[in-house]
Amino acid sequence: MKYDFDKITDRKNTSCLKYDFAVERGRPASVLPLWVADMDIPTAPAVTDALKSRAEHGIFGYTMPKKDYFSVVAKWFKQRHGWNADPEKFICTPGVVFAICTLIKAVTKEGDGVICCQPVYYPFATSVTNNNRKLVVSELKLKDGRYYIDFEDFENKITANNVKAFILCSPHNPVGRVWEREEITRLGDICLKHGVFVISDEIHCDFTFKNHTHIVFSTVKKEFEEHCAICTAPSKSFNLAGLQISNIYIPSPEVRKKFEDELDRVGYWEPGVMGMTACAAAYQKGGEWFDCLKEYLAANLAFVRDYLKDIPHIKLIEPEGTYLLWLDCRALGLNDQALQALVEQKAKLWLDDGYIFGAGGSGFERLNIACPRSTLECALGRLKEAIKGN
Ligand SMILES: Cc1ncc(COP(=O)(O)O)c(C=O)c1O
Repeated sequence: MKYDFDKITDRKNTSCLKYDFAVERGRPASVLPLWVADMDIPTAPAVTDALKSRAEHGIFGYTMPKKDYFSVVAKWFKQRHGWNADPEKFICTPGVVFAICTLIKAVTKEGDGVICCQPVYYPFATSVTNNNRKLVVSELKLKDGRYYIDFEDFENKITANNVKAFILCSPHNPVGRVWEREEITRLGDICLKHGVFVISDEIHCDFTFKNHTHIVFSTVKKEFEEHCAICTAPSKSFNLAGLQISNIYIPSPEVRKKFEDELDRVGYWEPGVMGMTACAAAYQKGGEWFDCLKEYLAANLAFVRDYLKDIPHIKLIEPEGTYLLWLDCRALGLNDQALQALVEQKAKLWLDDGYIFGAGGSGFERLNIACPRSTLECALGRLKEAIKGN
């Protein structure tokens, strides 16, 4: 392979959330972290080169994205997902969670219901409750190792709870589903029927495994366009979370105006120059690197799948997308506290415990496989030994 994804890069003492905050967050100092969704793999060389060259300029004054920046963003999505996005309809924010909170404020009122399908990325719930909206949950259903939406429950919860917005996770973190066209259509139709605005978080869209195709929500039906926002970012694909850049697509002029008003209220006007530089370089010149990375991660997945044959109590929920694996640990027969203790105290690992994603996540753990294979091997070895001695 052209790029050395096996190379270990020491992230300690870089103010790294994943590696430098174990003790502050109540974990043993020696844990190996495979929790938060960033990679232990350096970004594409083209991105580093662009950042170096911009740094050498030496002036870091205020910056604004022009149409050419958003044209680069749109081109990536056209090439990768066949999506004809209009560059004029993107807005930059310093992250997708920031955008979700801002959208909630823009399209709903205090006390309104906001629905999501748990287990799901945990900041969805806090984005709703921190903004004094009512969190409404429709649980995903697990059947034969695959998660599904319970459409009847989803619609009933909408009508019963004055729901005004839906936060869709597509592809879905943590259960790894890449939603099919029929599923997205059904969700969109229900939302349209009940006047529910769809906040579609598509931050993981570039990571799909073989035979699975990501469908951009707004492309499914013309009628969906005006009632949705598509949240995108280069941060997962190119490991740029620390550069705080995301590109949010809002087709409706009215909603875009409300969104901009909310940004005005918090005084956010210009994105950081390094984030924009990195994003443009990634989307313009990082495609080939990204394809190699995806191959490496698919091999990591195969490695874990194989390794787990030796850990019979842990069952992999086969992912269709994302680099986050959802491990069914229920056969261990432990409650959440005991499972967390096994993972952290015995295996000396820092994973994301399933229960934090919602009640349905109880008995599961989330494992981030975006790291050199030797890190994964070490983590799985620790897990195997800990379970053996349990
Ligand atoms: C589904 C999902 N949305 C959003 C984020 C975070 O995005 P940002 O760092 O841009 O707020 C993550 C990170 O793990 C995620 O998994």
